[in-house]
Amino acid sequence: MTEEAKTEDRRGFLISALMWGGVALGYGLGAVYFLRYLVPLGDKVPMREMFVGTTGQLEIGESKTIRTPDGETFVMARTGEKSFRVLSDVCPHLGCKVHWVASENHFFCPCHMGVFDPDGKATAGPPAEAGQNLTQLETRVTEGKVFVMIKES
Ligand code: FES
Repeated sequence: MTEEAKTEDRRGFLISALMWGGVALGYGLGAVYFLRYLVPLGDKVPMREMFVGTTGQLEIGESKTIRTPDGETFVMARTGEKSFRVLSDVCPHLGCKVHWVASENHFFCPCHMGVFDPDGKATAGPPAEAGQNLTQLETRVTEGKVFVMIKES
């Protein structure tokens, strides 16, 4: 075999190896994306705790507004000695501000008389008719400190 033929063989081998490597890489990536489409892996939203205050800041029946790092606002109401409710203060009907009414033990939207129970379930007004509830954040009280679970940002 001449030197020129050997060079031609090596060049042909390299071209074939690159071509088949590219084909394998392309099909491999396609298979990975297809499997991720069939079996979604990462639909869980990462959550973290956020400190929102101490138990002494609110008397039973009082409430205050808290803001998450991504700008969402919530009403935090003290509903018992160690119990707090934290619900979105944005009415799911048309977006008015909702507030806590301790004497009635419910959240209230003044725009169209929307009423929500302490868990955020709509009980009267247009939100109840449409089955639109308030988003509630999970709370944890430990050693006099109140935390809520929020989305990792
Ligand atoms: S916007 Fe709240 S009841 Fe309509």
